[in-house]
Amino acid sequence: MFPYNVFPDTAAINDNGALEIGGCNLMDLADEYGTSLYVLDEETLRNRCRAFVRAFQSRYGDTQVVYASKAYINPALARLFEEEGLGLDVVSGGELAIAQSVDFPLERVYFHGNNKSPEELAQAVEGNIGRIVIDSFHELETLDRIAGDAGKVQDVLIRVSPGVDPHTHVHTTTGILDSKFGFAIQTGHAAEAVRRAVAARNLNLLGLHFHLGSPIFELEPYAVATEVVLRFAADLREEGLEMREFSPGGGFAIAYTRDQEPPAVGDYANTIVSALTSNCDSLGLPAPRLIIEPGRSIIGPAGVAVYRIGAIKDIPGVRKYVSVDGGMGDNIRPALYQAVYEVVVANKAGQDPSETVTIAGKYCESGDLLASDITLPVVEPGDVLAIPAAGAYCPSMASNYNLNPRPPIVLVQDGRSRLIRRRESYQDMMIADIV
Ligand code: LLP
Repeated sequence: MFPYNVFPDTAAINDNGALEIGGCNLMDLADEYGTSLYVLDEETLRNRCRAFVRAFQSRYGDTQVVYASKAYINPALARLFEEEGLGLDVVSGGELAIAQSVDFPLERVYFHGNNKSPEELAQAVEGNIGRIVIDSFHELETLDRIAGDAGKVQDVLIRVSPGVDPHTHVHTTTGILDSKFGFAIQTGHAAEAVRRAVAARNLNLLGLHFHLGSPIFELEPYAVATEVVLRFAADLREEGLEMREFSPGGGFAIAYTRDQEPPAVGDYANTIVSALTSNCDSLGLPAPRLIIEPGRSIIGPAGVAVYRIGAIKDIPGVRKYVSVDGGMGDNIRPALYQAVYEVVVANKAGQDPSETVTIAGKYCESGDLLASDITLPVVEPGDVLAIPAAGAYCPSMASNYNLNPRPPIVLVQDGRSRLIRRRESYQDMMIADIV
């Protein structure tokens, strides 16, 4: 059975048994743009944006959905998110610069990060960014000074750490006590941060933010953490905290493999909105604006990585390595998080699997494996592989390791394709070098 659940909404197998996304045959795209290649399905992207807006706003009118740019952003996509009414979560001056390059409405931009530099903070303040989410005492003081120097009062949130474990990969768990992110409620640091932000002359504290980790396949951690943070907000009312905005971050899971069934967007919305409204009611807190920060769950399902098979090495009785023209430079997730992906032969999508192979990348590392011990139809050099659920944290975490140019990205819709990022050239990779 073809794993439609992990592919974009428009995935189809044509009469020749070839895989199409957005009405475009992946073989044609591979020929036109070369491989490795990332294909993004515009319909899925927009569907996911709308699913989040609808799921949350239908349950809680005062919701702003903010796309987490770290999952992947570029100017064309920033425009698309603006059209869909989303805001942006940025975590660097670079991501902010992308937003600024397309005149993204900066009042809908949230700036996160545990160690924003003074230059980045100044860039944000001067650009009239909507909110800066304060992550440390050092940042609180620095930002107060920078805003003062600019003659501005900056709207801020405070990132608290609720001490709730979302049971995801240790590298992507953030809301526990032992984390570099945010102010822990448990230690009293969060309360102290609120006091100092309220007292700061050039900061306007609008509310609280937390983010538990990513991807989170359970609903319960959102409910528990929301209660913890709202109780904290209620306790801090006397200290001058008026919580007009509340954000439980992002982290919503997607299916990477055929057997995974993450909660639907509506399930996350139900959990978060009911925890928010019931706790606000019982604690006597006014209903704040809700800020939701999905990244992976918007762009992940829209993306398919496309590679061409080159060398095949069969070690009898041991393993058959099938090498492709990409790998850890465009998708570090298998090596970094032991992430598991489905793999489909795009030109043999209708065929049943018949042998076990391991998909190796082209990088000079034995650990550069995109998928281990998977079953595929018999493949040969020149066949094209498609790896779904690759829209998030693949191009955005790509590197030039081994000085391989990073792949192009093409947006597809209704049988048309549009390049939104070209393949890097060797000159691009040397542009900052000085002889
Ligand atoms: N908000 C904050 C404050 C975050 O730190 C993150 C992700 C998000 C929202 C969006 O989370 P999402 O909805 O995309 O799950 N590189 C890792 C994921 C790191 C996520 C970091 N923060 C991976 O490839 O799985």
